[in-house]
Amino acid sequence: MVKDEKPSNKIRSNYFGLTFNSPIILLSGCVGFGDEYTRVDGYSNSDVGGICLKGTTLDERLGNNAQRIYETSDGMINAIGLQNPGADYVIDNILPSLNFNETNFIANISGASVDEYVAIVKKFDNSNINALEINISCPNVKEGGVHFGNDYEMTSKIVSECRKNTKKPLIIKLSPNQSNIGMSAQKCIDAGADGLSVINTISAMSIDIKSRKPVLDNINGGLSGPAIKPIALLKVFEAYQISKKYNIPIIGQGGIINYKDAIEFILAGASLVGLGTAMFYDPLICPKINDELVKYIEFNEIKNIKDLIGNLN
Ligand SMILES: Cc1cc2nc3c(=O)[nH]c(=O)nc-3n(C[C@H](O)[C@H](O)[C@H](O)COP(=O)(O)O)c2cc1C
Repeated sequence: MVKDEKPSNKIRSNYFGLTFNSPIILLSGCVGFGDEYTRVDGYSNSDVGGICLKGTTLDERLGNNAQRIYETSDGMINAIGLQNPGADYVIDNILPSLNFNETNFIANISGASVDEYVAIVKKFDNSNINALEINISCPNVKEGGVHFGNDYEMTSKIVSECRKNTKKPLIIKLSPNQSNIGMSAQKCIDAGADGLSVINTISAMSIDIKSRKPVLDNINGGLSGPAIKPIALLKVFEAYQISKKYNIPIIGQGGIINYKDAIEFILAGASLVGLGTAMFYDPLICPKINDELVKYIEFNEIKNIKDLIGNLN
């Protein structure tokens, strides 16, 4: 297929003072640093509303030892361990190579301490990145990550300190590995979050019965893909019960692979929908979902896709 042979229909929207070409956001860790799929014929970054870059720490990280990925029925478990070249490299060498006219780029920030989060936020605040996503929910690292997201006091502290140090839109990525995601959403909003990403991967493991060892060297990893969709939907619904009171948008994610999944997430309360694992199945999936979403709202005579958000009967 020739690039841009058939321009797809797209639904535009505005959140956090940014315009989104499409309600689709490509998720962190599944699309590298924004250029991963641009070499694929028929793929264009302009088919999506935003791209979350791979999780970035202050210093370069090599990530966990192999084996780091395992395919499960209807999903995958990963324990990459936040492999990335460090914030300065991303800002100095990667951001200048991205075409910001095509879509929004969102930095995904991880730290092992409040100070590390703040130091990275300050660096990106001085860059041309469109928004910041604060990951307090990575299940695959020994320090920080999901441990911070499951501790309300730490959540409040990280979000409020990040807020003090940036005027960019601040999106907090919540963990499903907690019993009260509504409380977590509340803490983030009280501390100044502009948006929520719901959900990160779900802690999981796999065992090789021949060697009787865990398949992943890290033992546990994060489960993603269609297997987690029903859990993700409930978490979005629960977070939305809080976020709707403050008009805080949610990027709903977890197992979305087609337009029907996307509509379900919007009905549960998502304003934007994230695609991660689906990109491994089909890198050309975004224009198809854009087309189907337009057909769905036209067929159902829905004036504005916003009318669907959280609009369950
Ligand atoms: C290989 C892989 C790497 C990931 N890396 C990150 C990351 O660096 N930061 C982050 O916030 N989420 C990361 N995630 C989680 C995804 O961004 C997303 O929240 C999750 O996979 C659920 O969506 P999905 O089922 O559509 O993949 C990663 C997921 C996968 C599969």
